Amino acid sequence: MSHATQRYDFRDPDAAYRELTRDLAALLTGERDLVANAANTAALVYDALPGLNWAGFYLYKSGELVLGPFQGKPACVRIAMGKGVCGTAAAHRETVIVEDVHAFPGHIACDSASNSEIVTPLLRGTELLGVLDLDSPLHARFGAADARGLEAIARIYVDSLG
Ligand code: SME
Repeated sequence: MSHATQRYDFRDPDAAYRELTRDLAALLTGERDLVANAANTAALVYDALPGLNWAGFYLYKSGELVLGPFQGKPACVRIAMGKGVCGTAAAHRETVIVEDVHAFPGHIACDSASNSEIVTPLLRGTELLGVLDLDSPLHARFGAADARGLEAIARIYVDSLG
């Protein structure tokens, strides 16, 4: 299989995410390892989406979120449930979009370049596996199409684990 990343045209975000999720499913086919598939998902997403400075996973372990595979600058390692954007998305089990992270109470700043963020939970049925987090230096970078796309990406990742 070729691992070269193609360019996606995000002028039509739903179409671009459809192509991206199709490519992700192909990339993860035949492998069930949680870390390997998270690493390839983070790499593909970071390379494919314009305007990101961080893309990666926090995995739910013993009641807290622990840094997993990612692309971008080094990040804080542990996030308590309910804390920051990641802990909020994990606690509420729903996607959180933050247009201005500086206005989000309790936002955890890892890279000072970040201005907006989207976090989606990784759910296997009712079981929380972690979250998928994207940061952008742009203001209000993420919208409803990104939420739909990121949730589809999260589903493909979770399904790949078997
Ligand atoms: N900003 C996140 C922390 C993780 S970093 O963005 C990589 C938060 O508030 O949960």
